[in-house]
Amino acid sequence: MPFITATHDHVLTPKDLRNVAPEENPGFAAVPQVLAWDGGDFLWMARALADMGYREVNLNLGCPSGTVTAKGKGAALLGDPEALERLLEEIYAGAPCDISIKTRVGLRDPEEFPRLLELFARFPVSLLIVHPRVREDFYRRPVRREAFALAAERYPGALCYNGGLVSVAGVRSFQAEYPRVEQVMIGQGLLADPALVSRCKGGPAAKRETLRAYHDELYHTYLEVFRNERGTVYHMKEMWSYLGRLFEGADKPLKQIRKAAARGPYEAAVERIFQLPLREEPLWT
Ligand SMILES: Cc1cc2nc3c(=O)[nH]c(=O)nc-3n(C[C@H](O)[C@H](O)[C@H](O)COP(=O)(O)O)c2cc1C
Repeated sequence: MPFITATHDHVLTPKDLRNVAPEENPGFAAVPQVLAWDGGDFLWMARALADMGYREVNLNLGCPSGTVTAKGKGAALLGDPEALERLLEEIYAGAPCDISIKTRVGLRDPEEFPRLLELFARFPVSLLIVHPRVREDFYRRPVRREAFALAAERYPGALCYNGGLVSVAGVRSFQAEYPRVEQVMIGQGLLADPALVSRCKGGPAAKRETLRAYHDELYHTYLEVFRNERGTVYHMKEMWSYLGRLFEGADKPLKQIRKAAARGPYEAAVERIFQLPLREEPLWT
């Protein structure tokens, strides 16, 4: 689910409601994520989400985007430990449900991480998800795996690792290095290979028909929900920037997808891609 922002207005906008509607996420434990710097605003939102039936809400302390950090939210809070402490004191004192946290290892420097870890350890954080980059790394610079070691060593609560796990071998080597860490979060790796998690559990690779069904469901749902061809094609381009890595020799049709602005050329390029052989693992260059 896309994060939602808790503001002083204390309202869930129609867009927020669409994004967190429980009926859109049947059959699995979805966790809404909230951006906030004010404890009262966060609690208002958490109560509204708990009333919808959610048992856990996640506090975003990782978003590096300038529009978010300029308002003191997301990763900006990591650079202001006093404000962060006040926020955590308030939200854990009034928590209507479990509150987990997604964090980076600092705003500018991983040297900030030990102090942040000590702070998190003082609260009943239901799960601490660590993405070991600092805000200034955005998503570009390499993941700082060594910074995560500190959390694995010192943090006493439930811990989850996130960042750069894009293959079965990568997940296995993470598990071998950190056997105490029971959870990982996978983002872009799963977009490139929707079967990555089941393959990590010993399951088979995704079949072409399964990928096709996944594509078609996503595409037709976007068309229906957005009622906008151009907007739908735009969203699908983002998806193909990941899924395209799983197809061998897809450069040409992927270029056609990047250039497409309407259904016709987009759908023709998709037909071409689905004729191509599948790789065993997506290619990350
Ligand atoms: C386009 C994009 C949007 C993202 N949106 C969110 C978000 O709303 N909340 C969040 O906690 N992380 C968000 N992330 C960060 C991912 O959750 C994750 O931390 C990051 O992609 C690294 O993990 P990965 O290498 O497994 O993808 C986003 C990342 C990207 C690239």
